[in-house]
Amino acid sequence: MTDNKIATVELGRGGPRVGVQGLGCMGISEFYGDTDEASARETLETALAAGVTLFDTADIYGSGANETFLAPFVGAHRDEITLATKFGIERREDDPDYRGVNNSPAYIRKAVEASLRRLNTDVIDLYYMHRHDTAVPFAESVGAMAELVREGKVKQLGLSEVTGAELREAHAVHPIAALQSEWSLFSRDVERSAVAAAAELGVTVVPYSPLGRGFLTGSFADAGKELAAGDFRASQPRMTGENAKANAALLEPVHKIAAAHGATAGQVALAWVQQRARVHGITVVPIPGTRKSHRLLENVGATRLTLTDDELALLEPIAGQVAGDRYQDMSLTSLARE
Ligand SMILES: NC(=O)c1ccc[n+]([C@@H]2O[C@H](COP(=O)([O-])OP(=O)(O)OC[C@H]3O[C@@H](n4cnc5c(N)ncnc54)[C@H](OP(=O)(O)O)[C@@H]3O)[C@@H](O)[C@H]2O)c1
Repeated sequence: MTDNKIATVELGRGGPRVGVQGLGCMGISEFYGDTDEASARETLETALAAGVTLFDTADIYGSGANETFLAPFVGAHRDEITLATKFGIERREDDPDYRGVNNSPAYIRKAVEASLRRLNTDVIDLYYMHRHDTAVPFAESVGAMAELVREGKVKQLGLSEVTGAELREAHAVHPIAALQSEWSLFSRDVERSAVAAAAELGVTVVPYSPLGRGFLTGSFADAGKELAAGDFRASQPRMTGENAKANAALLEPVHKIAAAHGATAGQVALAWVQQRARVHGITVVPIPGTRKSHRLLENVGATRLTLTDDELALLEPIAGQVAGDRYQDMSLTSLARE
């Protein structure tokens, strides 16, 4: 580790070391409005130079476009990065809002080949099941993922939005290196059972949307106003209308703490996730998403910020006061099965 790079942690028991903060690449291709591709490419390089090595994508982001976008970066830095992608959510061309879950072994095999092709690589470092299909036993789905490990197509396995019981069950089929679930000052479902299982099994938790999809940075100054057409957040109950206005008011202590440290609200949110993990005795690698180099540098700066016990206490009640769910349809989240 050189001075200007962030610290590293082990990804799953006995896994590779990765920068303690990763980069979520989803927004480059979909969900949060238009992207300047040149800035996004520059952000990838800025991230790597700062010591970010875990790059997160999925086959559904932009219906494959995100993996394709990443391919040149992956090719240029294959041995320096840990590349994570996901399978398991199906979409329909005629209905952009449709989401189906498919964990069948035949589907997994097709999905991995398609991801490898789009990413233009012969191995995926961390392959996640994006959502759990309860109709398919883990013995079959994780069993099929384990075969990919044996064949050398995939190095480590991960799950997303599973409960603690599901994590234990899957881990018994094949070691799970990482659990990727939403975890932030606003979203703490994962603390119900999953993080305890992760601690017990040595699974690294990869908090997604650690900035609350941008809301926790305070950049929704005009909270409650209509979001641009096509912005996924316009469908999220907590990001819109009266809920958004009420939720913006919850950020007051975040801003106060940020000012005391000469930091930003987003940095406080990211530091909170890191410190919350220590309480649970787990390793975390949050993956905030940004398409801008200056924000990337701001976000990695949070890995050097330590909040006091008093500050953590001030932040403790926030999640319990958030108005509105984190998804319009909560049926695909771990909470639905807790
Ligand atoms: N497993 C799953 O089901 C799942 C679900 C959602 C996301 N994810 C993964 O998690 C990653 C991160 O989650 P996310 O992108 O949803 O949410 P996030 O990281 O909480 O927030 C991203 C949003 O915040 C903005 N932002 C980032 N840094 C900022 C800063 N310093 N100041 C102000 N605004 C800032 C980004 O805009 P700009 O890009 O314009 O900077 C973007 O709109 C995704 O990229 C994806 O890889 C996984």
